[in-house]
This record gives sequence, structure tokens and C-alpha cells, in this order.
Amino acid sequence: MQIFNNVKQAQDWCKSQKSSGKTIGLVPTMGYLHAGHLSLVRMARQKCDIVIVSIFVNPMQFGQGEDLDKYPCDLKRDTELLENEKVDAVFAPLVRDMYPEGYSTFVQVQGEITDKLCGASRPGHFQGVTTVVSKLFLICQPDKAFFGQKDAQQAVIIEKMVRELNFPLTIVRGPIIREADGLAMSSRNVNLSEEQRKQALILNQALLAAKKEIMAGQRDTEILKQGMRKMIASQPEAQIDYIEIYQADELKDIKEIVGGKIIMALAVKFGNTRLIDNLTVEV
Ligand code: PAJ
Repeated sequence: MQIFNNVKQAQDWCKSQKSSGKTIGLVPTMGYLHAGHLSLVRMARQKCDIVIVSIFVNPMQFGQGEDLDKYPCDLKRDTELLENEKVDAVFAPLVRDMYPEGYSTFVQVQGEITDKLCGASRPGHFQGVTTVVSKLFLICQPDKAFFGQKDAQQAVIIEKMVRELNFPLTIVRGPIIREADGLAMSSRNVNLSEEQRKQALILNQALLAAKKEIMAGQRDTEILKQGMRKMIASQPEAQIDYIEIYQADELKDIKEIVGGKIIMALAVKFGNTRLIDNLTVEV
């Protein structure tokens, strides 16, 4: 397995792989890998000749006062896990190589899909994501890039960016991978105390309860959101950031569920750890 810390070396290597006719699959990550990340790696392994995984805790997508300093990191363990998955290359650049002094170029998807949900609570976050992902696409030149449904809004925004900027690649989405007890896997879960970890189970439970109500015929999104809010608020450490229900493809507002695919998405803080989760339901 190749390990690149340098942008130019990674770009030259990917270019040579492409010119020898190989298809490249890219899995962008911020590291501290778990089974959610590895499920994307396995999808890439199945669909592409060459698999490259980027590990980069992108400072541009963290706001002031967010958990950039506390973001977990273990490059040695990550590279061992990726070696086991028969990954061809790891790209783990330095911040100063990605953003040299005076760096001032940004990629921004504007409008409704970036302004709501995590975009509303984390101003500038998605501009940081689309900027770094564009750079990763240009460096690694993938034919396919793999993103998890766990960050559903991120996937919708990146798909829009790829369409509108004509990036010559396909986005493939993977399902949310959960712990056995239902908690969505996240690198941030290690920052939860034992008690918070227990209370955080309410997130998946609330989403599943709302799904059950929809299946039983409930169509009013306000009532569904209130039900989830009540369940989550029952946990003493839960501080709700948002609980929303949108049409799934473009995250359009809906008052009443009339049919098609809807997404229920939420963000909740337990202490200083902000967790997100979502569930898509086809009606
Ligand atoms: P990170 O949070 O490390 O996630 C990397 C990829 O793994 C994302 O596509 C994310 O949706 C996916 N992922 C995370 N948890 C998952 C789970 N439980 N099940 C399935 N997939 C999961 O998302 C980022 O990094 C960054 O914003 C990035 C795209 C790398 C840009 O910096």
C-alpha cells in the first residue's frame, strides 16, 4: 500500500494509474476509521481497479469553537485497517500542503440545500467540505467517489456540485452503518461519556418510532417532529440542534407527507459532542 503525504506525489501517481487504463475509486475521510468508513472502502474495492482513501482532518470545515482540536486521530491504526482491506493508496496530506499560506480559493454550493440543517448550525461548514472535496477530486482523479448516507446533506450537496461543475466522476452513496445497539457509527462517538453513549441511543429510536408512525398513516410532519423532540428531550444530556423532515432528493420543505422518499434528519449534542443521524422512508 502506498502512503502519500504530498499532494504532487499523490496526483502524479493517480495520473499514471489512470493513463494505464485503471479506474480509480476515492473514499474521502477524516480518519479514525470505523466500520462505516470501511463499508465505503469495500464498495470501492468491488467497483474500481484502484482504491485510494484520503485521511485529512480538514480545518476549513470546522467553525470557531467546534471540535477540530478534539477530533480523534490515529493514523497508524487507520493505515493498518486499510492495508487489511487491500487498499492501494492512502493520501494523508499536511494542512500546509493542502492550504499553503495565502490560500484563498473556495468552492461553494449556494442556496436552500446548504442553508438548512447542518448548514444553518455550522456556517461555512459546507463551503469547507466542497472546497476540500473538489481538491481531492482534482488530486486523485477518481472515476467514482464514495460517500455515506450518514452525512445525507453532505452527499446531496456534493452530488449537486459534481453535476454543476461537470466533475468527470460518479458519486456512489453507501448506507448508514450502525453499532449493534443502533447508534450510527461516528468517529466522534469516542468523545461520549459512558452515560452520554447510553442516552444517545434515543436518536435512532426516535427516528424508528417516527417511521412506525408514518407507516401507520401519520402524514403531518409537525406532529412527527414533535414526537421525536419529546423522546429525545427525555434524555437529560441531550441538547437538540435540529429535527427536520424533508423531501429526500433535494431536501425540499414539506408540511405533509404525500408520497415519495422523505428524510428525517437530526443533530443533537451530548455535552460537547454533536451527533447527527437520519432515516429515509419511502411512502
Ligand atoms: P468523515 O466524517 O470521516 O466521513 C467520511 C465518509 O464516511 C463520509 O462519506 C461519511 O458519510 C461516511 N460515514 C461516516 N460515518 C458513517 C456510517 N456510520 N455509515 C456509513 N458511512 C459513514 O464526511 C467527512 O469525513 C468529511 O466531511 C469529508 C467528506 C472527508 C471532507 O472532509
